[in-house]
Amino acid sequence: MAFLHAIAHIELNAMDLAWDIVGRFAGEGMPRSFYDQWTRVAAEEALHFGLLSERMAAFGARYGDLPAHDGLWQAAEATGHDLTARLAVVPLVLEARGLDVTPSMVATFRGADDDATADVLQRIYDDEKGHVYVGAAWFRYLCDRQGRAAEPAFHALVRKHFRGALKPPFNDRARSEACLTPGFYRPLETVRT
Ligand SMILES: [Fe+2]
Ligand SMILES: [Fe+2]
Repeated sequence: MAFLHAIAHIELNAMDLAWDIVGRFAGEGMPRSFYDQWTRVAAEEALHFGLLSERMAAFGARYGDLPAHDGLWQAAEATGHDLTARLAVVPLVLEARGLDVTPSMVATFRGADDDATADVLQRIYDDEKGHVYVGAAWFRYLCDRQGRAAEPAFHALVRKHFRGALKPPFNDRARSEACLTPGFYRPLETVRT
């Protein structure tokens, strides 16, 4: 139950973060399709939250029953001034991390004969690939617009705005399907001094 609550909390924050990108960066001069895609991401995060709420309800629980951390929102505040940094940290670090860890969660629930929860997590996993893809595409777009090479810009922004190294093992296949190629995240794997 604590697990479902924690994931629901992440999804709720992810929905707020997607809307935050649309609203906070409305004056950024991005193409209309950028805002359309983040609106779709927000809708999918809301759907994920709803699916997890249904699973919690099946166990007689609901969101709000347990305390929750605000780590995700701290990421929003740390990058509130810079859309390029926001895309680096939120979709390309935090959401990409979900691609690494979710398959084993699906397997755990499948193995425990909780197919309903496994199906919800599989749905989330499939959608999250799309979110990372949207982040990666627009991160490259912004770097092009700024005349910056995307990979070194990513390394500099993540080192500045995200505390800690990126944790392997990485789901290289899912990440590359989402256009997040190893040159972005592999160099950040080591612990910084
Ligand atoms: Fe999600
Ligand atoms: Fe997402």
